[in-house]
Amino acid sequence: MHEMLTKENIDYMERAREVAEKYVRPRAAELDQTREYGWDILEALKSYELTGAWIPKEYGGHDAGVLNLCLIVEQLSRACGGVGVAFAVNALGSFPIILGGTEEQKQKYLPPIAKGESLIAFGLSEKASGSDAGSLRTTATADGDDYVLNGHKKWNTNGGVASVFTIFALTQPDKGIRGISPFIVEKDTSGFTVGKREDTLGIRTVSVNELDFEDCRVPASQLLGGKEGGGFKNAMMTLDRARPGVAAQALGLAQGAFEWALRYTSERRQFGQTVMSHQAVQFMLADMATQIEAARQLVYASARLIDSGAKNINKMAAMGKVFATDTAMKVTTDAVQLFGGYGYCNDYPIEKYMRDAKITQIYEGTNQVQRLVIGRALTRELKELTGHLDVTVEHFPDYDPDA
Ligand code: CAA
Repeated sequence: MHEMLTKENIDYMERAREVAEKYVRPRAAELDQTREYGWDILEALKSYELTGAWIPKEYGGHDAGVLNLCLIVEQLSRACGGVGVAFAVNALGSFPIILGGTEEQKQKYLPPIAKGESLIAFGLSEKASGSDAGSLRTTATADGDDYVLNGHKKWNTNGGVASVFTIFALTQPDKGIRGISPFIVEKDTSGFTVGKREDTLGIRTVSVNELDFEDCRVPASQLLGGKEGGGFKNAMMTLDRARPGVAAQALGLAQGAFEWALRYTSERRQFGQTVMSHQAVQFMLADMATQIEAARQLVYASARLIDSGAKNINKMAAMGKVFATDTAMKVTTDAVQLFGGYGYCNDYPIEKYMRDAKITQIYEGTNQVQRLVIGRALTRELKELTGHLDVTVEHFPDYDPDA
């Protein structure tokens, strides 16, 4: 696998692996129980120069791209899926600025994120608009030199620790999706409150919050890109670039659970031999290893495509997310199975992987939405995919549309 990676890729991967083994793994169970954010882990990420890897150099980052971001997230998630997403969500929050911010906005907000001094979260979903992101209801009404935001956001990953938020709101409600605009909102803005923290099944170190806006006044300079409209496109383009990060989180979780399963089944003895030496178990391990490797190749390929600057990335990003996250759910569930009764108890490390994996099939677009994105792309590409075939269904033997 290493043969397919550049020296730079391996360097990012190894640095992240060291952080994961030294700082994340020893704290994973404790952070899961206390639901605290790993501030010490953030300090380690800073000292290993991993924060802001995806941010352009001119704004203090490394311009290392989505593949390196994925390699970092994968390694962190091998030890703790919560820490993996706590890191990745900074990319989700900052992509809207990288893609659509003015020079001033980029200069102001990106360098502190790159240094790990400021954490950023992404506010798109609402109580009544999850998969149907275009139906959001939060409004941003122009008033003199300001905008006044009113509404509520839901499932804001890192909401409780972020100091900056990219928020999508309706500036022209009569225009629907085309009336959505992105804003940058700072934590201490009057009228903005970080609300209820969700009691989540997994990724429990991460603070997932509601956000409330009540006559929250922000200067017009906080309108991303300085132009109304375009917010939905910005959100979609952001998600295309961020979904490989979730896929990498899933990949890391699957890999981490698999390593535990290998270790356990090679030591545990039943019927006079190691559990691993039973062929039924070997078949399970073989499937898990194969699925993980297939997911890895697809995730890396989707990241490489994005880094190449290609335009049509949404299908591959969605494919990587669907495949890696479904794999993570399957592999982590099988890993619990291989641990038997011990796997179901939280004094063993394995059930946490299964709990952490579940959300990867849900957030940043459910896997049903990913399949919708893939299906729509196939429809768009129909001619390209089938144009070389000189027959149509009418030429098929016995085909009769009126039958
Ligand atoms: N790139 C650029 N533009 C895009 C695009 C893309 N990937 N996808 C759509 N658009 C554009 C379309 O071209 C169209 O533009 P025009 O109006 O100019 O023609 C416009 O956006 C509307 O597109 P659709 O008609 O396809 O929109 P839709 O309403 O049918 O929705 C959807 C499509 C794919 C279902 C979308 O709503 C979606 O992705 N939903 C899931 C949202 C999501 O992932 N939410 C998670 C939020 S983050 C989170 O989970 C919490 C967290 O903190 C981690």
